[in-house]
Amino acid sequence: MKILGIETSCDETAASVVHGEGNDLRVLSNTVSSQIEVHKKYGGVIPEVAARQHVLNMLPVVNESLEEAGIKKDNASGEVDAIAVANGPGLVTSLIVGVETAKSLALTWGLPLIGINHIEGHIYSNFLERAEDIEFPALILTVSGGHTMLILMRDHFDYEVLGETRDDAAGEAFDKAAQLLDIGYPGGPAVSRQAEKFQQQTSSGIEFPRPMLKNNDFDFSFSGLKTSLLYKIEKDPEWKERIPAYCYEFQKAIVEVLSRKTIKAALDKKVKTVMLAGGVSANSELKEQLKKEVSEKLSGVKFFSPNGEYTTDNAAMIAAAGYYRTLEGQVSDWKNITVNCNAEL
Ligand code: KG4
Ligand code: ZN
Repeated sequence: MKILGIETSCDETAASVVHGEGNDLRVLSNTVSSQIEVHKKYGGVIPEVAARQHVLNMLPVVNESLEEAGIKKDNASGEVDAIAVANGPGLVTSLIVGVETAKSLALTWGLPLIGINHIEGHIYSNFLERAEDIEFPALILTVSGGHTMLILMRDHFDYEVLGETRDDAAGEAFDKAAQLLDIGYPGGPAVSRQAEKFQQQTSSGIEFPRPMLKNNDFDFSFSGLKTSLLYKIEKDPEWKERIPAYCYEFQKAIVEVLSRKTIKAALDKKVKTVMLAGGVSANSELKEQLKKEVSEKLSGVKFFSPNGEYTTDNAAMIAAAGYYRTLEGQVSDWKNITVNCNAEL
């Protein structure tokens, strides 16, 4: 079965074709047109600008993706079995472009359409090319620019949100720190590049709090970290010379809270698999630390994180979720799919 995936929740215009057979899920094409260069000068995503870029990029991206998968772009009926589109959560003006495109293609080609929750898409990025290795119950730490969630997954589409952030998301914390330090956009990769420059054998003398680490729940809070960084640099006339040290300690605080709470939840729920998902899963410190803690503290539990190109927003993850929904007969008609920018998992 072949699924065409479409993703336009924020600032990436993406399309992908995946081929699925049982638990074997292969990516035939994965096209992403990033708007980073456009939004860089504003230091963040401007929704109206993002929507206009999606309109310009959408059809070329779909065409490229179909072509790369060896599918005729003028008529994919008979070659593609269904279309899956991210219909929320996200920026409403961005989501509309992907959803309306998917609806038009589904109507024209006579294909079923599946609306996919963007967070579910991130979770399913882990199923690409290795679905057979994932055992339930699984725990997924979903960390992106908009979300920080610990999700217990008992089976396909059976989710329980164990905890989430009470304020800023982990990616948002990285983005805001990068803005305060004026080191570039997007913030996550900029902070981790700076952190790598820090000589770890020396002491930085900088100490960030570990918010909510000792609480008896699985919630997070990251807005205090950003405030703490602001106060610290205001008091440090030499902060510009110590950016790697600040980034190293800031990243360490986030990674420590995320991984400790994940391990606690995994032990509590006796899961068989721990997975990372979302843009912040591109962070190598987080990946390494969590992997290490899973192997040291959770005997027999598997650990996975999505391959590089499937960490930040992409359409292969949307197609992957669409494939499993199609297997369960959860397909719809183009008329029934609408945008829900506040959709919950
Ligand atoms: O999943 P995603 O592409 O979009 C949302 O759904 O939000 O995640 C984007 C977020 C941004 O906040 C970005 O700074 C963060 O992921 N990010 C990273 C890294 N790469 C991207 N955060 C930390 N380390 C990275 N290497
Ligand atoms: Zn995302």
